[in-house]
Amino acid sequence: MILKCIECGKEYDPKEVRYKCECGGLLEVLVDLDKVENVFDGKNITLWKYESFIPVEKRVSLNEGGTPLYRLENLQKELKMKELYVKNEGANPTGSFKDRGMTVGVSKALELGMDKVICASTGNTSASLAAYSAKAGIKSYVLVPSGKIALGKLAQAIVYGAKVVPIRGNFDDALRVVVEASKELGVYMLNSINPFRLEGQKTIAFEIFDQLGFVPDKVILPVGNAGNISAIWKGFKELYEVGFIDKLPQMIGIQAEGASPLAKAFKEGTFKPFEKPETVATAIRIGNPANWKKALKAVEESKGLLESVSDKEILNAQKLLASKEGIFVEPASASSLAGLIKLRDKIEDDESVVLITTGHGLKDPNIILENFRLPEPIEPSLEAFKEVL
Ligand code: F0G
Repeated sequence: MILKCIECGKEYDPKEVRYKCECGGLLEVLVDLDKVENVFDGKNITLWKYESFIPVEKRVSLNEGGTPLYRLENLQKELKMKELYVKNEGANPTGSFKDRGMTVGVSKALELGMDKVICASTGNTSASLAAYSAKAGIKSYVLVPSGKIALGKLAQAIVYGAKVVPIRGNFDDALRVVVEASKELGVYMLNSINPFRLEGQKTIAFEIFDQLGFVPDKVILPVGNAGNISAIWKGFKELYEVGFIDKLPQMIGIQAEGASPLAKAFKEGTFKPFEKPETVATAIRIGNPANWKKALKAVEESKGLLESVSDKEILNAQKLLASKEGIFVEPASASSLAGLIKLRDKIEDDESVVLITTGHGLKDPNIILENFRLPEPIEPSLEAFKEVL
């Protein structure tokens, strides 16, 4: 196993604490693919089932992965599609896909002998880092945009025992501070620039293949800091390289309109950060995605695309998924369904599509309650109840 720069190709020893290349390029872990095992039998699915693909030896685990893959029977009929699925990552231990990255990332921190970890976060990463570092018995620091983090996520980070530091600024500002802090203060940084995080997240691809028994035509997911789309693509590519699969899916990334520098770059050809990202989907309220180069590469290599959706489309999709399929996801996660609805014309009726929903709806209950007025309470009698029916 080695660390390799995606830009200049320079290689580094993975025993070194390093997040980026000397040239500034993002790093990628190259695992020893000649040693991986074909365990794809559709049974006993958990993240660590794929341990031969995962480049750490220690294991800080809360039993992550093995999330449900649902067939969307009702929505696929409404959308006139043959095969539509959701991979529901909200079913992970802290309620988001970040747990896949953190089980590997915090394990790596221990291997490197680090006893303090840090991240910037729109919420889910902080909750997950706090939980895994609690399990590992190490200290965690999380920087979050003040007032722009969903309540459930904040409560999680607090109760798991992280040092929670709100900052006057957005996620991009917080990440800048975290990168500097990790250099100066000797804390291990576990944002998705850390390539070991993505090694955990690539298992979403493994599970999709393991659960379906085939590779879907399209995978649609929300994009914020752009680590996950890069990770999932890496997972599929590894399966392809070792010959366990013989086709690759198209990767389709969805951003919220007010925070859509990648969707814009895809359409216009040049990447430019958004100075003031804004969206109801606070998880993906990011203007300068750190992994933008990896993400554009994933989309290009997979012949996929990037699209943006409005806050209204996101909230409609959130309601649709809950009320038609019984799956409650947070707004950012609903952008994958919103994206599918927007792109429906570009998808053949008989193509198989997997939507990734990234975080649990209960993390952000306010967004539902703000838009719903409970009726006045009634007297506790059957008569009163009949009157309001
Ligand atoms: N969906 C949810 C629910 C998220 O929390 C995030 C990212 C994304 C999608 C986007 O994933 O960054 O890999 O493109 N949340 C980060 C956080 C930024 O701090 O929790 P990405």
